[in-house]
Amino acid sequence: MKAITYNKKSKKKFDIIELPKPKASEKQMIVKVVKSTLNSGDVVRMKMGLLDRKLPVTGSEFSGTVIYAGSEISNFKVGDDVYGYKPKSVHAEFIRVNNSDLLCRKPSNISHCEAAALPNGMLSALYFLKKAKISRGQKVLINGASGSVGTYMLQMLKYLGAEIHAVCGSQNVAMVKDLGAEVVFDYNQVNLKNLPHSYDVVLDAVGKASISDMANILMPHGRIVTVAFTFGIIWRQLLNVFYAKKLYAGIAKYTKEDFKSLNMLVENDLIKPFIQAEFDKQQMNEAFNIVSSGRKRGNIVLNLAS
Ligand SMILES: NC(=O)c1ccc[n+]([C@@H]2O[C@H](COP(=O)([O-])OP(=O)(O)OC[C@H]3O[C@@H](n4cnc5c(N)ncnc54)[C@H](OP(=O)(O)O)[C@@H]3O)[C@@H](O)[C@H]2O)c1
Repeated sequence: MKAITYNKKSKKKFDIIELPKPKASEKQMIVKVVKSTLNSGDVVRMKMGLLDRKLPVTGSEFSGTVIYAGSEISNFKVGDDVYGYKPKSVHAEFIRVNNSDLLCRKPSNISHCEAAALPNGMLSALYFLKKAKISRGQKVLINGASGSVGTYMLQMLKYLGAEIHAVCGSQNVAMVKDLGAEVVFDYNQVNLKNLPHSYDVVLDAVGKASISDMANILMPHGRIVTVAFTFGIIWRQLLNVFYAKKLYAGIAKYTKEDFKSLNMLVENDLIKPFIQAEFDKQQMNEAFNIVSSGRKRGNIVLNLAS
């Protein structure tokens, strides 16, 4: 089977290599991958050298069809269309999936292309929204609403009944309004710290806003939640007890329960991925350049069946 590997030192960066098809035990499944993505987490792992050292196959999200299910697998069967998340080595024609991995049956109202673009961004968005403890009618600002995490946060906030304001670049204003933001600020024209509003929660979905700028536009007991995870952020979070305006950050944890709940929202057309572009596996460098720019719109899908 074909798989995609990454080598930071090579000029080509990506190679399509031939590997033996994976084998699975009675407790495992084999999924034929149809679509995957290149997401910001994949690129962080590549740049930090966190891929498998011996066989650095890239990728983490997938959508495809079960072609083998061991006798101890009761919830999926051969022929099921599924989508899911594994932290590594997903950019291959076939992958081995454990019963403990994040996997859901693909709802019939979405394509494989849409399904592949869901797990990472939507599970991250939910993880951070839980930290924000948002209730109906609260006024929330999302900074960086046009990325993968931002577009899912927007749709979930709409479902939760929040009043949503958003910050994004000029080219994304229409898309962010379309996804449910009531008021959209273009960061080329307005500085976040000067926004004429007091928010219950400010969510930084891109991790680029300064904490003091966000605190400036919060209600006295408002919350800041950010996807950024730096030493300064961790330190400020540890000092929350001294501040009325609390800050929450962390490394997103994905659970099967959250995936199942979000899958129900997907089935009911309440969450849809925004897909900027789709590439074939021979075009990994183009996909990589977009994702590593930190300026992608929604998600970048890869066609692994081509
Ligand atoms: N802590 C965690 O566990 C965790 C989990 C998931 C993701 N993350 C991190 O979260 C970040 C976002 O991930 P993502 O996949 O959603 O990224 P993404 O898809 O690359 O989105 C970034 C978006 O933010 C916009 N943007 C860039 N600079 C901006 C700025 N200064 N102000 C407002 N918007 C800006 C970009 O649009 P423009 O072209 O308009 O600028 C782009 O649409 C990444 O750094 C990722 O590593 C962290």
